[in-house]
Formats: sequence, C-alpha cells, structure tokens
Amino acid sequence: MRVRAIVLALSAAIGGTTSIAANPGQPTANAVMRAVEVTLPAGASTFPPGRGADLANQQCVMCHSVDMVMRQPPLSFDTWKAEVAKMRTVYGAPLAPEQIDDIARYLTTINGK
Ligand code: HEC
Repeated sequence: MRVRAIVLALSAAIGGTTSIAANPGQPTANAVMRAVEVTLPAGASTFPPGRGADLANQQCVMCHSVDMVMRQPPLSFDTWKAEVAKMRTVYGAPLAPEQIDDIARYLTTINGK
C-alpha cells in the first residue's frame, strides 16, 4: 500500500548569526514541505465490510493491525466477547462496555464458529 505523507523539514539558515544581526527578531529557520511516498507492509488496513466494521475500524486498529485479529482461529461469540473485553480491561482499549457485544458479534460474522 502506498501512502502519501507530508514531511516538514526545518532547516536552520546557514550563517544564522549574520541573518540575526541583519534582521533582528526575524525567524532564521526555513520551513520546507515535501511530499514523500511510503510503502507500508502488505495486508488489509481496514476490516471487511459488514455491520460493526466501522466500530472495529475505530476501536481495534489503533494498537495493532487488522491481521492480528484476522489471524486468529475462528472463535465463538463468547470467546470473541472475552477477547474484546480483555483488550479493554487488560490493554486499555478505550471501548464503551456496551460496544463489546457489537464488536464481538461482528467478529463472529467475519471469523467465527
Ligand atoms: C489499547 C491497545 C489495544 C486496542 C485498542 C486493542 N488491542 Fe488487541 N491487543 C493489544 C495488545 C497489547 C495485544 C497483545 C500483543 C502481543 O501479544 O504481541 C493484543 C492482542 C490482540 C489479539 C491476539 C490475541 C491475544 O489475546 O493476545 C487479538 C485477537 C486482539 N488483540 C483483538 C483486538 C480487537 C478485536 C480489538 C478491538 C476491540 C483490539 N484488539 C483492540 C492491544 C490492543
């Protein structure tokens, strides 16, 4: 996947003392903006579409990849529920408690048994 990112490079003006003396109070750094291409490792960056996918995209990819979730063996609803609850209580995922069931139901539809 290719991603465009803006890189902001600050470079101090060469011969800063001269320009400070010449322009008192003026900033001596030059801001340069450049677009660069970054190639990320292959793999889906969002969950497959479906009811609850938005929630999973919001709540489950801030700490790790979609692959980390999709690589699990198919799990039952209860096991997904325990997994999502663990993300919340053990790792601090900022989920509302009432979102646990919705996400677990979605995960069961895409990778459940
Ligand atoms: C606050 C960070 C955070 C968020 C948000 C988060 N996780 Fe995790 N998750 C972790 C950490 C840390 C691990 C353990 C990583 C390791 O062992 O290398 C993990 C591991 C996992 C695993 C691998 C099995 C395991 O239990 O270690 C699964 C599956 C998983 N997360 C699913 C989810 C799902 C689904 C969501 C969304 C509800 C989610 N995670 C959100 C931090 C997070």
